Amino acid sequence: MKLVLIAAGNVATHLGKALKDAGHNILQVYSRSEPSAKQLAKKLRSDFTSKPSEINPKADIYLIAVSDNSIKDVVHTLANNNLESSKRKPIFIHTSGSIPINVFKKKFSHYGVVYPPYPFTKAKSASLKNIAITVEASDVETLKKLKRLCSSVAKDVVELNSEQRKTLHLAAVFANNFTNHFLVLAERILNKKNMSLDILRPLILESARRIQDSPPEMMQTGPARRGDTATLEEHLLLLKDNPRLQQLYRLISESIEETSGPRL
Ligand SMILES: NC(=O)c1ccc[n+]([C@@H]2O[C@H](COP(=O)([O-])OP(=O)(O)OC[C@H]3O[C@@H](n4cnc5c(N)ncnc54)[C@H](OP(=O)(O)O)[C@@H]3O)[C@@H](O)[C@H]2O)c1
Repeated sequence: MKLVLIAAGNVATHLGKALKDAGHNILQVYSRSEPSAKQLAKKLRSDFTSKPSEINPKADIYLIAVSDNSIKDVVHTLANNNLESSKRKPIFIHTSGSIPINVFKKKFSHYGVVYPPYPFTKAKSASLKNIAITVEASDVETLKKLKRLCSSVAKDVVELNSEQRKTLHLAAVFANNFTNHFLVLAERILNKKNMSLDILRPLILESARRIQDSPPEMMQTGPARRGDTATLEEHLLLLKDNPRLQQLYRLISESIEETSGPRL
């Protein structure tokens, strides 16, 4: 399929590369800043532009991977660019977990959402071969095409509606974004006492490995899980100079106490 990438960030970079490797034709990269469009276009050996009026009108699919806040504006810009005509009706898709499909309604004939629940960053390589991509589409024919597109780069394709996708995104924030933030906090706590996060890396890896074949609820350990109240008080004392962290520690410990399943 012929695609134009609308954006040159984390997702556009990885999806663009995977789609190209799968044999699709990336015609052009459009982004608001020319240097980033040019940089990605060079990797994908495609054209690039930062001018909406120069967006290539010959694509089968326009893949919008801008930040959530910009999607509505970008859809509006694309709709004003006559990319759809009586003869040509391409598909417009975005990649957001939380923006509903109806952002495209009344703007285009065929549209959809392709959301990969995976932490893409430009700096790290990503293998889509092991992940599931979720899809939603305006109509049956578009759904078929998007499923075929996603199957060419990912292990699985799962059909979700906008409500389900938003819930999946919320769960991903807890599973990934919050977990990573806690690792940032852990590293700061260690660094303050001249220790490195390296000492915890085996523990972090083991926690991630365990939940591959066991329910997380069963894998919970720690003072809150055991009901070690004296230890909880000691930790709160260590955080006495940081009331926000103390509050966080209390809230999470309470949540652990409330949600813990039977001990194995
Ligand atoms: N990162 C992830 O792990 C992930 C995973 C799944 C889904 N998503 C979704 O994918 C989308 C993109 O995320 P991302 O992490 O790739 O974002 P990102 O790295 O911040 O990239 C956003 C890109 O959009 C461009 N952009 C922003 N506003 C624009 C506008 N008004 N017009 C034209 N270009 C604009 C930016 O241009 P500049 O270079 O000029 O700033 C940048 O190239 C979001 O909807 C996000 O929710 C992200």
